[in-house]
Amino acid sequence: MLLDFKKQATGNIKAFLDEIDPIPTHPNDDNGDLYYGYISKGLLHLEDLLSGIKTPPNAKILDIGAGYCEMLLYIGHVLKSSNMHGIEVNQKYFTDTAPLLVKHRVPVTLYLCDYRKHDISSYDVIYSFSIAKKLPEKEEMYRYVLDNMKPGAIWIEALAPGLIDVIKKHKRSFDIFYSELETIALRAK
Ligand SMILES: C[S@@+](CC[C@H](N)C(=O)[O-])C[C@H]1O[C@@H](n2cnc3c(N)ncnc32)[C@H](O)[C@@H]1O
Repeated sequence: MLLDFKKQATGNIKAFLDEIDPIPTHPNDDNGDLYYGYISKGLLHLEDLLSGIKTPPNAKILDIGAGYCEMLLYIGHVLKSSNMHGIEVNQKYFTDTAPLLVKHRVPVTLYLCDYRKHDISSYDVIYSFSIAKKLPEKEEMYRYVLDNMKPGAIWIEALAPGLIDVIKKHKRSFDIFYSELETIALRAK
């Protein structure tokens, strides 16, 4: 497993993760099987990033493009929150994941839709991993999320390498900016 949930009191999350292990490669991801290697490299860094961020108790967390929800669970674990929500546009991920969440009573609500169809204004923490791959889409996503998220909320984005130049344009809103692993956190004004 990529994630270590030994400290997690709720064994159901571990059972969920065991059931989706071994994690298949991402069918629609350009990076193919490099994808999860990239994620695991980013994990320690993400924990570091998250520990520097102040969030309310049981913060309401949203993963935009939740996939199999393992990063969402990881973030919920680090932030000690069970108020977790995921949006996923790919029917396959949704169909694979939703029954397991119910079976193991994992506290994640998963929505099958495009992120632009979901009200993102009530979340304290938003996470996304490189869902917009082309530059115009990326710019559109930045505008959309920053304009619609709750004031004071945090958006954490893990970026595919090479997209860093796009987000530099939005530097005014940066709280924390880790260029090495291209994971950033933005706070809404
Ligand atoms: C790189 S994966 C990230 C998966 C997971 N969040 C993680 O960090 O491991 C990006 C996900 O975003 C989803 N996605 C892409 N465009 C989307 C959209 N417009 N609305 C919702 N989800 C989308 C894809 O189907 C894919 O599962």
